Amino acid sequence: MNEKQPLFKGIKIGSRNAVNRIALNAMECNDADKEGNPTERTYKRYRRAFEGNAGVIFLEAISVIDESRGRLNQLIGSRANQKALTDFIREMKKVNDKPLLFIQLTHAGELSDPDFSRRVCVKPLPGLGGDLLTEGEVEEIIGHFVLSAKVAHDAGADGVDVKLCHGYLGSQFLRPYNDRKWKYGGPWENRARFAYEIYERIAREINDPDFIVGSKISLWEGFPGGMGTAGAGTPVMDLTEPLELVKGLEERGGKFILQSAGSPSITLALTQPDRDIPDYAYLHMTFQKAVNKAARPETAVIGSAYSVFRNGKNKFLAVNRDECSLVYWGNKNIRDGVCDMIAIGRQSLADSLLPAKLESGKENEINWCTTCDNCIEFLIRQQPVGCATYDREYTEALKEIRRKEGRLTEKHT
Ligand SMILES: Cc1cc2nc3c(=O)[nH]c(=O)nc-3n(C[C@H](O)[C@H](O)[C@H](O)COP(=O)(O)O)c2cc1C
Ligand code: SF4
Repeated sequence: MNEKQPLFKGIKIGSRNAVNRIALNAMECNDADKEGNPTERTYKRYRRAFEGNAGVIFLEAISVIDESRGRLNQLIGSRANQKALTDFIREMKKVNDKPLLFIQLTHAGELSDPDFSRRVCVKPLPGLGGDLLTEGEVEEIIGHFVLSAKVAHDAGADGVDVKLCHGYLGSQFLRPYNDRKWKYGGPWENRARFAYEIYERIAREINDPDFIVGSKISLWEGFPGGMGTAGAGTPVMDLTEPLELVKGLEERGGKFILQSAGSPSITLALTQPDRDIPDYAYLHMTFQKAVNKAARPETAVIGSAYSVFRNGKNKFLAVNRDECSLVYWGNKNIRDGVCDMIAIGRQSLADSLLPAKLESGKENEINWCTTCDNCIEFLIRQQPVGCATYDREYTEALKEIRRKEGRLTEKHT
């Protein structure tokens, strides 16, 4: 009898069971309505995602308040959105009740778009800036994260991902760059306070052992003073603090770590490896292994940045083609203990049915993401996001946008 591939062996996350080891990474698509509720576009995307039968589906970055948002049409997770979220989750679970649904909670901080929201920061970063947050305001924001977690819980989500990556507020606190002298800056215990307080309050106030809490973290942001660097003025990598964070989150009830890297408004290709220079994907594996080594055996470590491997048709050099695909590395890395699960980001926009197609032996029917990055162009332009390669509606939309507004001159969010 053929043994099941590692990707299709179930896994426990806290008290819950994921039916396989493929997660759909959080992919914000900027298509909510004015109140931050899901629209028909949002429903369409996630119905398809649930049909695909991934073990875990991360619902895209949902803002804990509407005041500071990165996207014009971002989903919002306040009490006012609870009814719409409940309806949405009920519908998705009707499509398929197997995938676990974790909602990613965020606050954009210095990445809030000043055209429609308030940009705030922990310490002005060159080129970004914003109003300097006071300690009182931070306490309020922590309260909003906890409230959003309650909304997610009451709406029927299986858990939350407290976003601590990609340069959004959760990661702005953690950086060595945050050497401001205040309750939330300077020494590591101060910089970690924001994340730890959110976890402690969620554990205390929701108090449901079946509600899963975890975080997506950028192990190394790749610029001076970013997360995972050796100090405020150096880009030199030092994983001591990110790995300390993994342990600190576990001690406060964290059940999974979704590994990532980079900050897409600064180091986009580090977060989502570029098809022409794909090699950062190997660095992600190195980070996954470091997290898995530091984490407790029962913590689910989910690796990112697998899309660029595709079906082996990619630009990696010095490789045997059949040993350089998403499926090959997913299975191998799980088998070798590099990670416990893999997450697909852009690939999930190109074809969110991938897990179901793979499991039923229909690999040749998968729409492999070309990692052309046209989808991120929609996000940069504050337009609803879709795959411009495989979804005609978005192919036409992109042509029209480029016709009206010209080509992008800079590629970062
Ligand atoms: C259009 C788009 C939207 C994204 N939205 C989010 C998001 O909401 N939250 C998040 O943590 N990462 C987001 N990402 C990053 C992906 O989740 C993922 O970490 C990254 O694309 C690397 O994975 P991949 O190589 O499989 O694409 C987004 C990426 C793209 C291209
Ligand atoms: S637009 Fe390009 S990068 Fe984005 S999902 Fe489609 S094929 Fe992948």
